[in-house]
Amino acid sequence: MSIREILKMGDRRLLRVAEPVREFGTAAMDALIADMFDTMHDADGAGLAAPQIGVNLQLVIFGFKQNTRYPDAPQVPETVLINPVLTPLSDEKESAFEGCLSVPGLRGSVPRFTRLRYQGVDQFGNAIDREVEGFHARVVQHEVDHLLGILYPMRIEDFGSFGFTSVMFPDLDPNDDD
Ligand code: NI
Repeated sequence: MSIREILKMGDRRLLRVAEPVREFGTAAMDALIADMFDTMHDADGAGLAAPQIGVNLQLVIFGFKQNTRYPDAPQVPETVLINPVLTPLSDEKESAFEGCLSVPGLRGSVPRFTRLRYQGVDQFGNAIDREVEGFHARVVQHEVDHLLGILYPMRIEDFGSFGFTSVMFPDLDPNDDD
């Protein structure tokens, strides 16, 4: 297991559409997922998508009990989600601030669907089918966007809400520039 380099915005590899995962339960997949959790935990991220470490597969991880980057967020179950399909459960969207480990030091307000169904499989090929809302739904939409080559700044509608974390949220850990 090891901590992998997280690609930063501007790297063209973040703009690719990811390929579906076709093999499950392999040693290579186990190692990749272990590296992704090590990398996400090291960066105190709420989620991480495989393309962020240069692996162009439809694989995301997310979840935490408490997160210093999002101290007010409710806990989200630790999840490995492969080949995801998202279905909004209503047209309602809400805007809230997001950051991204590939866009360090910045936050922006992004509209996302409030309620959502997501389906896919875990690392063993077992089906996942959940209906979620709020921050959980936001995290899933953010991570799955990475599989489509979309970074959250591309979703910002009000650029007056886009800026440096240290300026807009000075109470967050000053050593955390993500
Ligand atoms: Ni991200």
